Amino acid sequence: MTTLLRDAELAAAFDHGARAYDRLVALNPGYHAHLRRSARRLGLPDRGAGLRVLDLGCGTGASTAALVSVLPKARVVGVDASEGMLERARAKRRPPGVSFVHATAEDLTTAHDLPQSAAGPYDAVFAAYLFRNLTDPDTVLRAVHRLLVPGGRLAVHDYCLGGRRRDRAVWSAVCKGVVLPLGTLTGDRDLYRHLRRSVTAFDTAPVFAERLRRAGFDRVRVLPLPGWQTGITHTFLARRPPYEPGGER
Ligand SMILES: C[S@@+](CC[C@H](N)C(=O)[O-])C[C@H]1O[C@@H](n2cnc3c(N)ncnc32)[C@H](O)[C@@H]1O
Repeated sequence: MTTLLRDAELAAAFDHGARAYDRLVALNPGYHAHLRRSARRLGLPDRGAGLRVLDLGCGTGASTAALVSVLPKARVVGVDASEGMLERARAKRRPPGVSFVHATAEDLTTAHDLPQSAAGPYDAVFAAYLFRNLTDPDTVLRAVHRLLVPGGRLAVHDYCLGGRRRDRAVWSAVCKGVVLPLGTLTGDRDLYRHLRRSVTAFDTAPVFAERLRRAGFDRVRVLPLPGWQTGITHTFLARRPPYEPGGER
């Protein structure tokens, strides 16, 4: 069974995978459109005017581009553990309100590890294809909750199987037929074996929704995406409640 990559090992795999990442995701029908759809689902007003949004695990900036297209007036901070992925993100043309910070999601959990430029509070956090990669997703979710303003919104966009046998079979077929052969061609076999297993080993969509509630979020909703990703890729929406009995978590 493939071992999951974690922390420094995973960051190194993404450093290497950064070269081919954009070309590979361009082959995935709907990849960019689905990110934009999840960004729209945040439901933020006035194209993001006056708002601060964190793109956690921003990678080469595909999710950042989705946020900028939906929320062109927002200030967007992209954070990622892989310097190689960030180098690609920084090389792209961006509006002035966008910045990138090299930090891990785990750095969010201890204020002193977090560079000032990434410190919250945020009106919204967007995390695409991140959470199943984390050693301790619950601790990071609680940190995200703390970084949000009261009433702030979270959108998690990820491969999280719906729970039907068919969903697992489609995921397995896509990985065997497309993802692993392409990943092997680009010299990133371990990263794409990790991708396959990180999805099957992680929560199903209802279980991840419950994880969000346990971390203190309310208004948790699980929304599907169209195409082959139906039952495989979801948008999870959640909110930090505006008023919390007992105050800070
Ligand atoms: C599959 S990529 C997704 C990138 C981007 N969000 C997108 O939609 O294309 C996952 C990203 O999460 C980052 N990542 C994984 N574990 C992380 C961690 N613990 N802290 C911060 N970033 C992490 C990786 O470096 C990688 O760039």
